[in-house]
Amino acid sequence: MAGSVKIAPSILSADFAKLGEEVRAVDQGGAEYIHVDVMDGHFVPNITIGPGVVGSLRKHTEKVLDVHLMIEPCDPFVGQFAEAGSDIITIHAEATKHLDRSLQAIRDLGKKAGVSLNPHTPETVLEYVMDKLDLILVMSVNPGFGGQSFLESQVEKIRRIKKMIGDRNIDLEVDGGIKAENAGLCTEAGANVLVAGSSVFKGADYKQAIDALRK
Ligand code: DX5
Ligand code: ZN
Repeated sequence: MAGSVKIAPSILSADFAKLGEEVRAVDQGGAEYIHVDVMDGHFVPNITIGPGVVGSLRKHTEKVLDVHLMIEPCDPFVGQFAEAGSDIITIHAEATKHLDRSLQAIRDLGKKAGVSLNPHTPETVLEYVMDKLDLILVMSVNPGFGGQSFLESQVEKIRRIKKMIGDRNIDLEVDGGIKAENAGLCTEAGANVLVAGSSVFKGADYKQAIDALRK
């Protein structure tokens, strides 16, 4: 999965009244992944969408559905998100007591397993699960909302995780406050997947915004 830089527009900043159309537009604009933010009003102070919407979006794109679960507990719901057609299911290390078991459960469903770390969570929590991971998501904002400012403290974390990954085939994704101006900082540190919500959907030309991030 790792390799050249992939862009993952976050539909959190899209128009929810026409999500299918929005997803088709970023698909045609060259996005590799479609990033879907699932929030429960408990793990994070916001509520978004559930597996039903993921299932509906599945019919609009063949791109990778990159589902970011900001829900606690996560274990009871991964089956429904798998069934709905997610390709990657990412859970938060802070939202499960048994990270190793939760990741194995996602892989047992035939899906790629990701783990996300809040800004304050050290990368050391990953040490003993590295061989059960397909994606590591570094949050560069506190999860819950789009449009927040990028936390530069996370660049060093990306660098350290890149070293931990070594030659494993694991995506290193960064999420929150990514714009054309700081995308290079993240990719230089080792990130290969950039999530972008407001910087893609706020403008009129999604393809241009996606191209700008890639450069
Ligand atoms: C935040 C979400 C992000 C968010 C990013 O909790 O996980 O995916 O949509 O939005 P921007 O790019 O606007 O920071
Ligand atoms: Zn996200």
